[in-house]
Order: sequence, then C-alpha cells, then structure tokens
Amino acid sequence: MKRSARIIIHPESLQHNLLRAKKAAPNSKISAVIKANAYGHGALDTAGILYQVADSFAVSCISEAVELRQAKIDKPITVLQGHQSMDDLRIAENYQLRLTLHEQQQLKLLDDYPGNFRFELNLKIDTGMHRLGFPAEQAGQIYHRLQKHHQVKPDQLLLMTHLSCADERKNNYTRQQLERFKQVCSHLPAQQSIANSAGILGWKESHSDWIRPGIMLYGSSPFAETHRDELDLKAAMTLKAPVISIHQLKKGDYIGYAATFKCPRDMNVAVIACGYADGYPRHAATGTPVLINGQLTRLLGRVSMDMIVVDISHLDDNTVKVSDLAELWGENLSVDIIAHHAETIGYELLCNAGNNCAIYGT
Ligand SMILES: Cc1ncc(COP(=O)(O)O)c(C=O)c1O
Repeated sequence: MKRSARIIIHPESLQHNLLRAKKAAPNSKISAVIKANAYGHGALDTAGILYQVADSFAVSCISEAVELRQAKIDKPITVLQGHQSMDDLRIAENYQLRLTLHEQQQLKLLDDYPGNFRFELNLKIDTGMHRLGFPAEQAGQIYHRLQKHHQVKPDQLLLMTHLSCADERKNNYTRQQLERFKQVCSHLPAQQSIANSAGILGWKESHSDWIRPGIMLYGSSPFAETHRDELDLKAAMTLKAPVISIHQLKKGDYIGYAATFKCPRDMNVAVIACGYADGYPRHAATGTPVLINGQLTRLLGRVSMDMIVVDISHLDDNTVKVSDLAELWGENLSVDIIAHHAETIGYELLCNAGNNCAIYGT
C-alpha cells in the first residue's frame, strides 16, 4: 500500500542540470552517474530522460547495470566498483559493460577468465582518497600489463581517479591529487576521467576527457557554502506529504517523542504525514523549514516514523487545512537546507526518500 508522502521527479530539471555540466566542461564527454537508483530518482526513468545528451552512464555494481541493459539502455555503462566474481565477468561480457579495475583480486579473475573476450576497462588509480584504486606507484606497471592482456581492449583503456575534497574549494589536497594523477599518467597514453560534480563546477583542471557528474544532476549543490541557485542547478525531486491534523496547543504543552519541544506560548500546529520511514531525516532539528501552500513553517520537536509537527501560529486562520500538501524539499526549498538542519548531506536525503517513497510520475 502506498504511504502518504510522495515524490515528484522533474525531468526538465534533470535535463537542465546535465546541460549545466556540459556547459561547465564543454570539451569533456559525460558519464552520468545514476548509481543507487539515480540517487533515489529512479535509474530507468533518469537514464531515459538523460539519454540524448549523456555519452554514457555510470553505476555502482553489476546488478544496477543489468537493470539498465534489460530496459534497453544501449549507451556505454561503466560499473564503478567493477567485477567481484567470475559470474560478474560473464555478465559484463553478455551485457557489454565497462568495468573498473581497482584491486589485484579483480586482475586475477581477469587472468583466469576463460575464452578470449576483450573487456573495456577503467584503470582506477588512488591519488589520495584511499578508498578504491591501485596505489599510484603501481599504476604504470598495471597499465602495461593490461595493454598486453589478451582479455583487454588496449585502445579502450581509461585512466581514472576520484577526488576526496573537491567540494572544499580552498582545500589544497585536490591540487595534490590532480598533480599526482598528472605525474602518474604522463607516460601512459589513454583517455582520463577525474571530475565528480564538485570537480566539474569548482576545478577546471580536473575536467579531462570524461566528467562524471552525480549530485549536480539532481539539483543539489556539491558545495556546503553555495546554494544551488548560484550554480544554476534545479531540483529534480520534490518530496510532498499531506497535512493530516491541525491543533491549538497551550503555552507549556510538549510536542512529540521525548517531549523535546515545550511551547513557549499558545501555538497552532499542523501534523504532516511524513517521517523517517519516508526518508525524511530523523535528525532534522526544531526549526527546519517546511513549506505549506508556499508559506514557510518550521519543524517542532522530534521527527517520528511517519509524521512531523510544524508551527503554523504565524499564519492566518484557514490558510492551512487538513489535506493541504506540504513541500518537505524540492522546487521551492533546497534539499541541501534540510540536510544542513539534519547535519547530513543532500545525497543521503535524496537516496533515502527516493528509495522509500512512491514516485508519483514525472
Ligand atoms: C567514482 C565516482 N565518480 C563520480 C561520482 C559522482 O559524484 P558526485 O555525486 O559527487 O558528483 C561518484 C559518486 O560518489 C563516484 O563514486
């Protein structure tokens, strides 16, 4: 059964944001990152919406890529975590998937793979994030091994790395990562890919042959200090839920679990049918903004599983009614603001809500 909270996806915003990435890096090809169900926006729909402009798609794992192929998405697809087993290699062959090679065990699987199919590979180099990738010192040796490998398309080899601090525009660590990548790759002829959204919008030097925009496609700013509007990004997801009750409370009354909010005066409040089960962050603090009929209200007390309470005392009587729809975030209220009030990031909210709520069309 569908819950009351619902998501609306805005296809024109997805397209706008992709063009925004293209405008920022006009000489790069685009691998649109649609992992984790396109950050909660629905991977299949998003791939369809971005299809014309994206040069390829990137997902986390083999199963996400297969879902796209089975839906007849025929653009190149990169699996960012690459293969974990022989089965994964068989599937990658069947579905023509580009794999990311970042670990010796994957190389061993490739060596042992029967037959003579040649895979398209990204060679991932760790330039300082220390998550995935071969150490920079080993990159040259592995590159040369792959160039001669009977199961690799040598001319399709792509060198990639990932930036850990690009969202902090003053952090010199990005420059160090870029420098390390440049040094490592200077004698290794191949296409390159470095930039995530923060790289695309903040570090021109990171653009290279391929960019990999993720969060910016969904209209969230990759920079904590910069609002999406300043970056010309538009919300691709709106989260809405109905008002299901309105009350008058007396000065001194408490609201919600653990009675964390005490009314400082008589107050009018509205209860909205959206909570952490719908992906609204439980840690959103009192004061987090919520829009009802375009009017700003604020969260009071703790977020429950399926409900929140908001202050409507400052609004004229009858401007809020039961069954009115509240906007928790979206076109008129940036998800980044809500994330800030919950001490998290827009990525987490989009993924959680998108994967918990019914998507009501586009
Ligand atoms: C390897 C890689 N490239 C690109 C991206 C896209 O990053 P962002 O969503 O910050 O643009 C991600 C996402 O985490 C990633 O893991």
